[in-house]
Parts: sequence; structure tokens; C-alpha cells
Amino acid sequence: MTTVIPGSNSQALAAALSTELNAELTIPTYDRFPDGETMAAVPEFDDDEAIVVASTATNDAHIELLQLQDAVREAGVDEVTTVIPYMGYARQDKAFKRGQPVSARAAARAISTGTDRVLIVEPHEALVTDYFDVPAVAVEAASQLAEPLEGLDDPLFVSPDEGAIELAETVRGTYGGGEVDYFEKDRDYQTGEIELSPSDADVSGRDVVIVDDIIATGGTMSSAIEVINNRGAARVYAACVHPVLADAALTKLSAAGVEAVYGTDTLEHAVSQVSVAPAVATQLSE
Ligand code: R5P
Repeated sequence: MTTVIPGSNSQALAAALSTELNAELTIPTYDRFPDGETMAAVPEFDDDEAIVVASTATNDAHIELLQLQDAVREAGVDEVTTVIPYMGYARQDKAFKRGQPVSARAAARAISTGTDRVLIVEPHEALVTDYFDVPAVAVEAASQLAEPLEGLDDPLFVSPDEGAIELAETVRGTYGGGEVDYFEKDRDYQTGEIELSPSDADVSGRDVVIVDDIIATGGTMSSAIEVINNRGAARVYAACVHPVLADAALTKLSAAGVEAVYGTDTLEHAVSQVSVAPAVATQLSE
């Protein structure tokens, strides 16, 4: 039998996945010592295979994942699979300046020590799977973002930079119609400021869906919403796989005039309406 082990930030997704797989769902404990150290533990169980499901959105979540992997080995399982719904530090997949680390590689190496294989949902760049020392695959989940979109008027699916155009194409494909376009994006790595150059697509009176992999500070998405609203779009929707939505990100999107924000349950948030559990379950069975 297989047991699914949720990280504290991935409880809803782990439960949905255990239902998809018809697997046991264990109830870990998540404690903290007075000095701030975390202690994630699992109860006794005697299944052969464990699937640890844990987004690593924070430093504590990284440690918690390593603890859960180790705890299931201690409990005697033969095979550990690690599902990383959202992999933190994946955007630092190279040293952008002299002296910087490749944080994604450092995290991947640590995670590899406690598992037999890894699944990562829509990593920022597919190359991050190469950083693991065990077999690692990316899970495609963007197509699910079309689920809540209904009755769009002459829709345009836009990515805020060229790198995310495949996501916009995927959502358009599942939705079943519409055009696809992208913005040119320049980010000043010193100040963090973003400059978006709009495409020539005519958005006037149309419904526009802006699709990105991550909404973190909301800077990229809110700039794109503003530009498109200023050009006379009817309604502007924001869709992302990973709703990090740090600090006032959601407010930035509202202030920019977004109609609705849709995300998946790789991170648990009020906007996480779409589940990636079916996509993860399909990948696990391949
Ligand atoms: C960058 O390449 C990503 O695809 C996202 O556009 C970016 O991470 C979003 O970050 P923020 O919300 O902080 O602008």
C-alpha cells in the first residue's frame, strides 16, 4: 500500500491526491521548538511506499520536507516519492551575478538525498529537474487553469513575458478558442522595477486572460493588467499555476482592475480554485 504524507503547506492537495490514488493519508505533526527549529513527524505506519507532498515556499518548508522524507525512511518504507507542488528557489536556477549561488541546485541536491524520485509541478524552468541526483520530472498543470474560465468574449490569452507564452497557449488550447500574445518584459535586478512593452494586439472590448507561472509580489501581473485595461479591454483575468501572492500582491491586482484571479492548489490560498491532483496522479502512474 501507499501512504500520502502532507507537508503543512500542502494539506488540501495531499488529501485530493490520496483520493485520486485511493491511497492512505497520514496525519503528521508539525511542531516548533522554542529556538524556532521545526519538528515534522509521522505516526507509525507499515506501508511500503510513501509519497511526500510538500511545497517549499519558505525556508521552514524546505526543512520540513527533509524531515518528512527522513521520518518515513525511519518508519521503514522501501520507496519514497517526493512531490513538490511549488518549488521555492527554482527561479534562482543560475548565478545571475558573480558570487551568487545556484540556489535551485543546492535545494535539489538536499531533497535528492531523501527520496527515490521527484515530481515538480510546473517548475519555473524545466532544466531544474537536471539538478536532482535522482530521477525527476516536471508535471504539466497549466491546462487546468482553463477550468474556471467560462463565456469569454473574443478572448485573448497573454503571457507577461515571452518565457510564459507556452502556458498561455496551453490555457487557450484547453479553453478551446481565442488568440495568444505576449509582452516583452525587462526587470531591473537592482531596483526590482519591471517594464512591460505591450504587443500590438487589439484588446479593445475583448476579454483578456493573462497567464503566468507564478504571481509573487504581483508586480509583473499588476503592470500587465494596468496596460491592458488602459487599452480598453472589457474584462481582464489573471491566472497562474503558483499563487505565491506575497504581502500586498492581491491588493495590487485588485487596484490594477483585475476581474478575477485564478490559481492552483500548489499553494493554499483563497484563489487556489483549481486542483493539480489529477495531473500529479496521472504522472505518478506513468
Ligand atoms: C518570471 O519570470 C516569472 O514567470 C513571473 O513573471 C515572476 O516570478 C512574477 O513575479 P512578481 O509577481 O514578483 O512580479
